[in-house]
Amino acid sequence: MAYEAKDFSNLLGMEGFSDTLLNNHFTLYKGYVTNTNKALELLASMLKEDKVGYEYGEVKRRLGWEFNGMRLHELYFGNLGGKAPIDKNSTLGKKMAGDFGSCEAWEKDFKSVGAMRGIGWVALYQDTTSGRLINFWINEHDVGNPAGCVPILIMDVFEHAFITDYGLKKADYIAAFFKNVDWKAVQNRMK
Ligand SMILES: [Fe+2]
Repeated sequence: MAYEAKDFSNLLGMEGFSDTLLNNHFTLYKGYVTNTNKALELLASMLKEDKVGYEYGEVKRRLGWEFNGMRLHELYFGNLGGKAPIDKNSTLGKKMAGDFGSCEAWEKDFKSVGAMRGIGWVALYQDTTSGRLINFWINEHDVGNPAGCVPILIMDVFEHAFITDYGLKKADYIAAFFKNVDWKAVQNRMK
């Protein structure tokens, strides 16, 4: 069963994000969906033909990159489109305060990860073993996602996510991102 690209056109018109930037980003996301399907189909046919040598290994390596590129973008677009700030008395707000000292401390940590030099993703994960919330830096889609943890809030900090509208002003993009987080969708991801 092939993966299908989800429609995030409901985000068009979002404050601080031009339609040009968003449409380009949707196109890029669709490329990951196409290539995830391509890698899976290729691997299945190679397996069938007993071609499980060097080439098989190389496509297998690419699968993690394409799949996570697809899924991280879905999580990113899926946690946008909100209008209200985080409710500190919500389950998520209280959990953040419990794990980081305060919601503000969580936000400072998350934004500081976003400000790191380099391209990648900032990801708030919940460790299902301990229940703890931890902000992670994911350098490449397929590297740095913590095992056994659930993605709660995902922010894309590859340059294509902001350079069209913000040039090199990544902090301004991060501020715009925070204005549009759908905190209810974020909280619904918690276990
Ligand atoms: Fe992206």
